[in-house]
Amino acid sequence: MNFAETFEKNSYLILKKIVPDETISMIAGYCNFIKKEKSSQAKAYEHDTEYKKSIQVYGDKLSESLLLQLQPMLEKTLERQLIPTYSLIRIYSKGDELYRHKDRDACEISCTMTINYDGEKLWPICIESNQQELKINLDRGDFMVYKGREVLHWRNKFETGEYWVQIFLHFVDANGPFAKLKYDGREGLAVQTRPKRKTVFFSNPLSLFTRKQKM
Ligand SMILES: [Fe+2]
Repeated sequence: MNFAETFEKNSYLILKKIVPDETISMIAGYCNFIKKEKSSQAKAYEHDTEYKKSIQVYGDKLSESLLLQLQPMLEKTLERQLIPTYSLIRIYSKGDELYRHKDRDACEISCTMTINYDGEKLWPICIESNQQELKINLDRGDFMVYKGREVLHWRNKFETGEYWVQIFLHFVDANGPFAKLKYDGREGLAVQTRPKRKTVFFSNPLSLFTRKQKM
C-alpha cells in the first residue's frame, strides 16, 4: 500500500522528520517567545481560570505559513487536492490532559506536529483506528495526519516535563463536502478572529479543561 491507500484504510498516517531540524529549532524559538509573553499575561490575570491551562494561538502568522508550506507535500502524499482552513499553536503545561474527542468539519484532514518539549520522555497522542487504541510518539519535526472529524483522539495527563509545544494544521478536501470551509470562514489566512466551534466530546464533558480544549 502507498501512503494515500494507508491513510484511507487506517484514517491516519505518520510522517517522520518532515520538517528539517533547523526549521523546527527556529519555530521552537518563536514559540518560546509566545510562551514567555502568554505566561506573563497569565501572571497578571492569575485569578482568571482561563489562563491556568495550556496556551493556544489560533491563526498565527508563522503557523499559517507552515500550513501553506506543507500543503503541496500533503497533497502529493494523500493524492488529493486540499484547501487550508486554519492552524493552531498549543503549548501544554504539566498536568494538562486532552480528552477523547473528534474535531469539527474544518479539520477534515488534520495534522499534529511536535515542535518542542523539555522532558526526557515523549508524550504520546492516543487515537482509535480500526477499533484499536494506539499510542503514537511524535518527536520534534514528526507529524501525524489524520481524519480529524472521524478519528477519536486524546492525550493522557502530561507528566513528563514542564511544557510541550505542538502545532496543528487543518485542511479540507477541495473536492469534498467541506470545501466551503476555506480559511475556516475567515477572509484569509492569518486573520486571528476565530469563528464559533462545534466539537464532539466523549468523556468528561463538564470539565473546565474539556470546555477550553475545543479542537
Ligand atoms: Fe483534536
